[in-house]
Amino acid sequence: MPDISTLTDRVAPLKRKGDAVYFLDQLALPGTVRYKRCATPAAVADAIRTMVLRGAPLIGCAAAYGYAFAAKGAGKADAAVLGRLAKAERLLAASRPTAVNLFWALKAMSGKTRSLCAAKTTRLYRELLAAADAVTREDVETNRRMAAHGAALLKKGSTVMTICNTGALATAGIGTALGVVRWARRLGKIKLVYALETRPYLQGARLTMWELQREGIPARLITDGMAAHIMKTERIDAVLTGADRVAANGDAANKIGTYGLSLLAKAHGIPFYVVAPSTTVDLATAGGDDIPIEERSEREVLEVRGLRLSPAGARARHPAFDVTPARLITALVTDRGVVKPPSRARLKKVLSKC
Ligand code: MRU
Repeated sequence: MPDISTLTDRVAPLKRKGDAVYFLDQLALPGTVRYKRCATPAAVADAIRTMVLRGAPLIGCAAAYGYAFAAKGAGKADAAVLGRLAKAERLLAASRPTAVNLFWALKAMSGKTRSLCAAKTTRLYRELLAAADAVTREDVETNRRMAAHGAALLKKGSTVMTICNTGALATAGIGTALGVVRWARRLGKIKLVYALETRPYLQGARLTMWELQREGIPARLITDGMAAHIMKTERIDAVLTGADRVAANGDAANKIGTYGLSLLAKAHGIPFYVVAPSTTVDLATAGGDDIPIEERSEREVLEVRGLRLSPAGARARHPAFDVTPARLITALVTDRGVVKPPSRARLKKVLSKC
C-alpha cells in the first residue's frame, strides 16, 4: 500500500515568505505561472475578491494571513493594533460571501488574538503569523485524511466526473475532491476523469486540466452541457465535487452547475460524493436556503478573458454558486469520516469526532 504522505503538493498556490504571502495568480493560469505578492490586509482581500486565488480552504488560509498582517510590528496588544485587526477582519469578511472557510479562519484568528491579549503577549504579530501558518499546515493534513476516506469509496478502474477546481490550487494541500482522485489514482482506482469546463471562470478547463496533466492522470475536458450525454452513453462510476459551505442539514453550496450535476447523477443512478473539510461545515446555517450565494459581475459571463461574446447591450446573470440538497448527495466525505447519507444527526455525530 503506498504512503499518502508521498503524495506531495507540487503546485503551491500560497507561499509565505517573511512578512508577505505570494499567491499563484490563478487568473493567469494555465498560460502563465506568476505569483502576486500581498503584504497587507487590503491586498489579500483584493486578491480574494478578484479571484487571483480561489477555492474555499485556500481562501481561509489567505484570510488568516491577511488578518495577521494588520498586526505587523506589534508586540503588545494595544488599542491601536486591536482597532487595525478589527478593521482587517471586516474588510476580509466582505471579500467573498459563500465559502465559510473564510469566516471560520477569521473567527479562529480573532479568538487567537483574544487569548494572546489575555496572556498579555509581547509578541502579538509573530504569534498571529504563526497561527496563520498553523491554519495552513492543518489544511494539508485535512486534505490527506479526506483523500483516504474518499478513495475507499471508489472501486478499481473507475471513471469519474468532477466540476470546478478542487485540487492543490484550491487548498494548501493535495485538494478536496481532486485530492481523492489523486490518491485513488495511486491506488489504481481511477481510469479516467471527465472534467467539466465550469463556465464562466473556467476552473475546470484552465485549472483542473492543468493539475491533472501535471499528475499524468488521464482526463477529458467536457463543456458543462455535455455531462448528461456522457452519463447516458458511457459508464460513469462516481461524481466527485467539493463544497464551499455545508449547512447543518447536509445541503451543500458549491460552484454553479453542481446542483444540475447532482440531478443528472440521480437520474443516471450514479453516486454523488461531496468532499469537504470540517471547516466547510457550518452548523450555524440551518439549511441550503440560508447560504449566501455570491452574485458576481455579469461581465464575467458576457466576456471570456476580455473577449466580448454577446451583442452590445446584452445583459447576463452570474450567480457563482448553487446549492445541492442533501437528498441528492450519496455521501459527504470529511476529514473526520464519511457521512452517508448526509443528515443533521449524522453530520453532528461525525463532526464531534476529533
Ligand atoms: O469560485 P471558486 O473558484 O472559489 O469556487 C470554488 C469551488 O466551488 C470549489 O468547488 C470549492 O471551493 C470547494 S473545493 C476546494
